[in-house]
Amino acid sequence: MALQEISVMFTHRPSAFSAAVLLLTLVLCRGKSHLVCPSRVVAMMGDDVVLPCQLKLAVDTNTETVNWIKPGLDPNVVHLHFDGRLVFENQNPSYHFRTRVFVDELIKGNVSLKIFKVKLSDEGTYRCSIPWIREEASIVLTVGSASTPVIKVMSIVSSRVVLQCESAGWYPEPELLWLDGEGKLLSAGPTETLRGPDDLYTVSSRVTVEKRHSNNITCRVQQRNTNQSRETHIHVPGKSHLVCPSQVVAMMGDDVVLPCQLKLAVDTNAETVNWIKPGLDPNVVHLHFDGQLVFENQNPSYHFRTRVFVDELIKGNVSLKIFKVKLSDEGAYRCSIPWIREEASIVLTVGSASTPVIKVISNVSSRVVLQCESAGWYPEPELLWLDGEGKLLSAGPTETLRGPDDLYTVSSRVTVEKRHSNNITCRVQQRNTNQSRETHKHVPGEDISDSTLPICVNVQAAFLVCIIVMLITWKLKQKQSDHRTDRQKKI
Ligand SMILES: *[C@@H]1O[C@H](CO)[C@@H](O)[C@H](O)[C@H]1NC(C)=O
Ligand SMILES: *[C@@H]1O[C@H](CO)[C@@H](O)[C@H](O)[C@H]1NC(C)=O
Ligand SMILES: *[C@@H]1O[C@H](CO)[C@@H](O)[C@H](O)[C@H]1NC(C)=O
Ligand SMILES: *[C@@H]1O[C@H](CO)[C@@H](O)[C@H](O)[C@H]1NC(C)=O
Ligand SMILES: *[C@@H]1O[C@H](CO)[C@@H](O)[C@H](O)[C@H]1NC(C)=O
Ligand SMILES: *[C@@H]1O[C@H](CO)[C@@H](O)[C@H](O)[C@H]1NC(C)=O
Ligand SMILES: *[C@@H]1O[C@H](CO)[C@@H](O)[C@H](O)[C@H]1NC(C)=O
Repeated sequence: MALQEISVMFTHRPSAFSAAVLLLTLVLCRGKSHLVCPSRVVAMMGDDVVLPCQLKLAVDTNTETVNWIKPGLDPNVVHLHFDGRLVFENQNPSYHFRTRVFVDELIKGNVSLKIFKVKLSDEGTYRCSIPWIREEASIVLTVGSASTPVIKVMSIVSSRVVLQCESAGWYPEPELLWLDGEGKLLSAGPTETLRGPDDLYTVSSRVTVEKRHSNNITCRVQQRNTNQSRETHIHVPGKSHLVCPSQVVAMMGDDVVLPCQLKLAVDTNAETVNWIKPGLDPNVVHLHFDGQLVFENQNPSYHFRTRVFVDELIKGNVSLKIFKVKLSDEGAYRCSIPWIREEASIVLTVGSASTPVIKVISNVSSRVVLQCESAGWYPEPELLWLDGEGKLLSAGPTETLRGPDDLYTVSSRVTVEKRHSNNITCRVQQRNTNQSRETHKHVPGEDISDSTLPICVNVQAAFLVCIIVMLITWKLKQKQSDHRTDRQKKI
C-alpha cells in the first residue's frame, strides 16, 4: 500500500521526489506525531497570544494547507492557510482580522497561530491540522482575567475595624484570602461571588480587625488555573488614623496647607470633615459636608479663604488650604471626621520678615556710627552686628517697637573704628519661624588725605628716620676715617 502511494506520487508529481521521501519517512514512522504543541496555553483577556505548534519535519508548510479549527464552533475554522494565504470566506466571524500564521516561519515548520486581543469566548480546545501529511495536534487555550482588589473601611466601632475587600473583573472564579502582617491567614466572613453579564467574576469579603496594635492587612485574590494573584495592603494603625504634623509655619500673606492625612482607605469626600479653631466664635474654619463647604457656619474671617482638596479627599487627604494668611490665623486648629471619630490638632505659626536697612549716623575722625533698622517682623526678632570675619560686634541695645498692625520694628547702633577696611553685617533673625535677613555695609579704611593726625604722625616719623640715618652715616664715616689713620700709622 505504501509503495502504491509512492508510485501514485511519482506519476502525478514526478518532480516532487523529496516529498516522496518525506512521505516514506512518515509511513515508516507511523504512529508517532510530528506536530508538537504544548497541551495548554494561558492568556489574559485583551492580550495577544501565540498557540505555538512546530512540525518536527523539514517541510515547507507555506505551500501546504494548515488548518486551525476550534471543535464545537460553527463554522469551526479559526484560520485556514491555503495556497500561501488565509482563506477568509471559511473563517468563523468572531476571529475575523484577529488571527495570523507566521508566513516566514512556515518554511521552518512553525505553524503557530497568533490570536490578537483575546476574548473570554476564545477559551477552549484548538486543533491544528496539516491534511497533506495527515498531521494533527490539539492545544487548550485558557483565558484569564484579573484585577487588583480594593480595600475599604466599612466601620470603626471602638477598637474594631471592619474592612471589605472587593475585586471585580476576574476569570475564572478566583479565591480571596485575608492575611495579617506576618502573612498568617485571618478568619474572615464568607466570600461573596457575583458573575456579571460579561461573564467576569466579582468577589468580596469582610474581615474584622482589632486595632489593639498596628497591623498591615493584606487582601489577596488568586486564581490557580491562570496562575494569577493580586493583592492590596491596608495599614490599620494602633491609635489614631488621622495624621497631621504638630506645627506648620507660614509667612504672612502667603498661602498655607495644613496637611492632614487619614491613614485609612476611606473616601472622605462623601463624609463630613470639620476644621475648627478652638477659641474662635464661631469656631468653624471649614466644614465640608455632603461634598461641599457649608458656608453658613464658617467664621467670617475665613470667608473665601479656605478650601479642601476635593480630588484628594478620596485618598483620605483632608488637608486644609488657607489663602493669604493673616497674623490672626495663628494658633491651634483641629480637624475631625465625626463618622469614624477621628480627630487631630495642628498649630499654625505665622511669621513676617523684612530686610534690614543700614544708615551711616556719623562719619568723623576715626569712627563711623552705623544704625540698622528692620520693620515688619513677627514674632519679635533679634538683631546682630557682625564684622567681616563673621564675629559678633558689641553694639548698643536693640530697640523694639510694636506697631498697630502687631508687627515689630527693631533697630540698633554700632560704632566701628576705621583702622582698616571692614565689611559690616546687620542680621535680623527669628527662630520660631526660622527666618533670617541681612544687609552688608562696607566701611573703608583710613584715608590719609582726609585726616590731619596721621599726617602729623607721619611727618614726625619721617623726621626721626632722617636723624637716625644721618647719625648712622656720620658714625660709619668716623669709623672709616679712624681705620685709615690706623693704617697710615702702621705704614
Ligand atoms: C513561531 O514563530 C513565532 C513568530 O516568530 C514565534 O513567536 C514562536 O515562538 C515560534 N514557535 C515555535 C514553536 O518556534
Ligand atoms: C505591608 O506589607 C507589604 C508586604 O507584605 C509591604 O509591601 C507594604 O509596604 C506594607 N505596608 C505597610 C504600610 O507597612
Ligand atoms: C506562576 O507565576 C509565577 C510568577 O508570577 C511563576 O514564578 C511560576 O512559575 C508560575 N507557575 C506556573 C505553574 O505557571
Ligand atoms: C493633600 O493634597 C494637597 C494638594 O494636592 C497637597 O498639597 C498635600 O501635600 C496633600 N497632603 C498630604 C498629606 O498628602
Ligand atoms: C560683605 O560680606 C558678604 C558676605 O559676608 C558678601 O556677600 C558681600 O559681598 C561683602 N561685601 C563687600 C563690599 O565686600
Ligand atoms: C531653616 O531654614 C534653613 C534655610 O533657610 C534650612 O536649611 C533649615 O533646615 C531650616 N530649619 C528649620 C528647623 O526649619
Ligand atoms: C566716611 O566719609 C568718607 C569721606 O567722606 C568716605 O570716603 C567713606 O566712605 C565714609 N564712610 C562710610 C562708612 O560711609
